[in-house]
Amino acid sequence: MNKILEAAENYAKAVLGYEGSGHDWWHIYRVNKLACSIAREEGANLFICSLAALLHDIADEKLNGSEEEGLQKVERWLKENDVPAHVSTEVLNIISTMSYKGGNTGLMSSLEGKVVQDADRLDAIGAIGIARTFVYSGHIGQLIYDPDIMVRSSMTKDEYRNGTSTAVNHFYEKLLKLKSRMNTEYGKKLAARRHEEMEHFLGVFFEEWEGRR
Ligand code: ADP
Ligand code: NI
Repeated sequence: MNKILEAAENYAKAVLGYEGSGHDWWHIYRVNKLACSIAREEGANLFICSLAALLHDIADEKLNGSEEEGLQKVERWLKENDVPAHVSTEVLNIISTMSYKGGNTGLMSSLEGKVVQDADRLDAIGAIGIARTFVYSGHIGQLIYDPDIMVRSSMTKDEYRNGTSTAVNHFYEKLLKLKSRMNTEYGKKLAARRHEEMEHFLGVFFEEWEGRR
């Protein structure tokens, strides 16, 4: 089991590396740690949670021709590394539900899926989430904040690319909503603290913006 997890870790490091768009190896490292913590609290299968966490971004369509190609890559890796069939099936289910962006509701059917999805969402909020948002914004050339851009608006991907959104807008558009989308009890507990951290940050941010602090 440990050999497989070690191999998955090396595979994720090799494929994702250290680039700055938000899906670098250290994102995987954090999601894996979180998934293990949540799995322990929730009594989920630790091996499946850890393996799915380590492989969850390998199939991302940004790194592959398509979603389908990405999943085939993960499937091949699981076979080559002699991962038992029932574990492979579960891991592939989790990854495809997590990474599919279109119409899919992203609803997880297994406890392990719920755990890994919570871990990935948690890494988008709190202090780490704040840091990732600003790095991602710099990466795509967005402003920190623009009072003329409607906070809480729902923007399309193209609008983001055209630079019509901001880092601060992303909190209202997505990050502040994640707390209510957590699956597990322990995930909800961690999300509540991370949510508070973002609320606090934004409160201070707007005061400083107007020179009131
Ligand atoms: P994931 O697939 O893990 O949900 P994304 O690829 O959507 O992650 O985003 C990676 C990181 O960049 C996350 O922390 C996310 O909050 C942040 N991010 C995504 N879209 C935007 C955006 N339009 N503006 C600012 N940050 C963003
Ligand atoms: Ni992720």
